[in-house]
Amino acid sequence: MAKPKTSFVCQSCGASYNKWQGQCTSCNEWNTLSEEAVPESIPKGMGTAKGRKIDFVSLDGEEKTPPRRITGIGEFDRVCGGGLVPGSVILVGGDPGIGKSTILLQVMASLSKDYNAAYISGEEAIDQVRLRARRLGHEKSKVKLASATNVRNILTTLEDEKPDVVVIDSIQTLYIDTLDSAPGTVSQVRSSANELIRHAKRQGFVLFLVGHVTKEGTIAGPRVLEHMVDTVLYFEGDRGHQFRILRGVKNRFGATDEIGVFEMTEGGLQEVPNPSALFLSDRKGDVSGSCVFAGIEGSRPMLVEVQALLSPSALATPRRAVVGWDSSRLAMIMAVFDTRCGLGMGGNDVYLNIAGGLKIAEPAADLAVAAALASSLSGVAVPQETVIFGEIGLSGEVRAVGQMESRLKEAAKLGFTRAIIPERQKRNKKDKDKGLKDSGLEVWEIGHVQELLSFFPMKDK
Ligand code: TYD
Ligand code: MG
Repeated sequence: MAKPKTSFVCQSCGASYNKWQGQCTSCNEWNTLSEEAVPESIPKGMGTAKGRKIDFVSLDGEEKTPPRRITGIGEFDRVCGGGLVPGSVILVGGDPGIGKSTILLQVMASLSKDYNAAYISGEEAIDQVRLRARRLGHEKSKVKLASATNVRNILTTLEDEKPDVVVIDSIQTLYIDTLDSAPGTVSQVRSSANELIRHAKRQGFVLFLVGHVTKEGTIAGPRVLEHMVDTVLYFEGDRGHQFRILRGVKNRFGATDEIGVFEMTEGGLQEVPNPSALFLSDRKGDVSGSCVFAGIEGSRPMLVEVQALLSPSALATPRRAVVGWDSSRLAMIMAVFDTRCGLGMGGNDVYLNIAGGLKIAEPAADLAVAAALASSLSGVAVPQETVIFGEIGLSGEVRAVGQMESRLKEAAKLGFTRAIIPERQKRNKKDKDKGLKDSGLEVWEIGHVQELLSFFPMKDK
């Protein structure tokens, strides 16, 4: 039987059909099928032809990687693992309007002092980018600016210009003229990125790809690109807050989970080299329901305020509103309090908030959350100038967490004088005394959440 020469491909999900139909049965979208030429078929099996022999080498050998390119923006370099590796591809994702274009323009302006930097905008007109550059005070920098969306034109230009660093803002606006689908579709995004990445590796320039994440997921988000690139950075933050956090979620050339903290100001994004001081700057002392958690973000200690509010609920199912933390861990801690300590916490509406718009994923915050809850329930404030950290197990035991010393040191540096922490069993008396002197804090070690409650005497008990 003769093969059909065209097929009908859904522009939304990529499913392909022999006949036209109104609705795609794969993604249930209407009127998304369009007729496309069938690509040349892939031969089945490999046949008997021999391939070329590849050479094995030993693990031990001279590395030939050129030095990293330092952007000069400390927080940015930190997240990238200490500068940009030539030939590497970095995906910068985030909600629209969070500041991706702003930070990359600043990075490019800084790099253009030493390197040939090119900024290609597919989203904004030249005038808009110039306006932003003026606002940031970088209008005199030597960044090469272009507005383009055709990948073929971009690649030809890059081959000619031989840049060291290139920004594509954003990958969703690019298209390849031989593909039938519209810009922003999965196949366009993936193929455009593929072509650009190949060129970056061959020519050895650093490539930044900007990608929007939309809540509805209507446009092919950066997720489809994550496995193709070397580094994935997500820019997050609350629109209502001026803090912006750049988080490394994948890095082939450095540690992940590293964060960079910025503040959005009139003159662009400013680095925040000491985030703890900033996250705690609005704190009011001696309020019940609030405590300070000494956390670790990536390789660096960071102090943040945890706030809890409990109020008797009028609802059959009490409200639980959690911002910046995991709501199932909150449920676990409340269950531990109710079952192991006999507190009647479950009948309250509970509001939990990590101040400043930071998201915390560490289990080490358990004890701080527990203290905030107990403090709110009892109306007794956490002892002044105290930091808290520790993991809570299901039987109510308080478990040790990593990097206790550096957490304590950071607290001491910011003027805290006390700490409530897990028991450190392995240390002998001599070490213990030395540790206390080192960090200069008065330390209470506790082994069970019950001991935590001695700080918060309940009135009606
Ligand atoms: P932008 O970089 O355009 O976001 P994205 O590229 O991620 O969509 O940032 C836009 C927001 O940043 C906009 O709401 C205005 C704000 N902004 C400032 O507050 N200060 C500034 O100096 C700049 C350039 C932008
Ligand atoms: Mg933008």
